[in-house]
Amino acid sequence: MTKVSDSITINGHVLKNRMTMAPTVKFDWGGPDGLLSEKHIAHYSERAAHGIALLCVEATAVTPGGKFDECHIGLYDDSQIDRHRYVTEACRNSGVVSLIQLNHTGISTNPKMGPPIGPSAVQTRRGGMSEEMTVQQIHEMQLRFLEAAVRAQKAGYDGVQLHGCHAYLINQFICRNTNLRDDEYGGSDENRARFASEIIRMIRKECGDGFLISVRTAGADPDLESCAAVAREYIKAGCDYLQVSSGITDPDPSLRRNDPLTNVVCDLGVHMHEAIGGLVPVSCVNGIHEPEQVRHLIEDGLVDTVDLGTAMLADPRFPEAVLNGSEFVKCFGCKACQYGPFTKHNCPAQAVRDRQ
Ligand SMILES: Cc1cc2nc3c(=O)[nH]c(=O)nc-3n(C[C@H](O)[C@H](O)[C@H](O)COP(=O)(O)O)c2cc1C
Repeated sequence: MTKVSDSITINGHVLKNRMTMAPTVKFDWGGPDGLLSEKHIAHYSERAAHGIALLCVEATAVTPGGKFDECHIGLYDDSQIDRHRYVTEACRNSGVVSLIQLNHTGISTNPKMGPPIGPSAVQTRRGGMSEEMTVQQIHEMQLRFLEAAVRAQKAGYDGVQLHGCHAYLINQFICRNTNLRDDEYGGSDENRARFASEIIRMIRKECGDGFLISVRTAGADPDLESCAAVAREYIKAGCDYLQVSSGITDPDPSLRRNDPLTNVVCDLGVHMHEAIGGLVPVSCVNGIHEPEQVRHLIEDGLVDTVDLGTAMLADPRFPEAVLNGSEFVKCFGCKACQYGPFTKHNCPAQAVRDRQ
């Protein structure tokens, strides 16, 4: 039986246990120049210090237009590299594998940042239509992802995570509702996966064999089979690790497993783990706030690693609590961190921790 404390090696990088920190953006912490702030550095350094095996820095824009808002971080300019070295050094000092998530908002682009662009012209959530990207624009965008990955490597990250879920650009290529193309980037699973698969190949060629490439991918958008086929394309292209979350469309309710310790999003990772059959390690995420849930998912062989979002925002000591039974403050589930975000609305769990 695999234990939570067992290490796992992913493309030569040793994760000292089975717990990873999910990317969680701090929309208003960066400067307008897309730089990481002192607050970011302190936040991630603290989160690296309490037993997590891998830390993935939040969604980071690959172009200025792909930022969530003005004060959101980017890796689209060399001036943005240096500050990340504090985070990667903190991770190294704590024996934590470090990734950074690379993203573009695509059709969900904030009008303050640029026009909504995506695989096809479709109705956007903000109103109006998106612009369909030409093949040349697709190639230019792929280059921006590559350049950001090269900067991430220069900053000392062990690898990158491509943001391929939660309705952003890579996910928009995967989902049939937002990708209506009939060229080589639309239609079949292979074609819809091509935008990200080509980025993976470019990063692998430029950053080398030992650079960890992960994709956070949609587990069912809406069906598991096509998402597993897309994931296999990513693996063929050189993806080392799949971290599974939700996509644009709601997953088929029949995918909910009969398991009181998980929820439907978390179950997507469990299904993908089974579908991928050990080709690469697979993680799940969502609603994991109790040590018992982590133990269940790992010890019962349901996934290879467990990704922790709000549990790590509420209390970075959560991994130690899972490993040693020590004290931690549980996430209140209040969502204060989600749309505020994080800083504007105080996290009540953090307030409890501050008083301890
Ligand atoms: C404040 C906040 C920011 C988030 N930012 C990101 C992000 O940058 N990239 C991403 O893929 N998911 C992001 N998410 C989603 C989380 O990574 C995670 O999937 C979600 O919170 C569910 O997991 P949890 O129940 O462990 O928090 C964010 C969630 C929260 C609450």
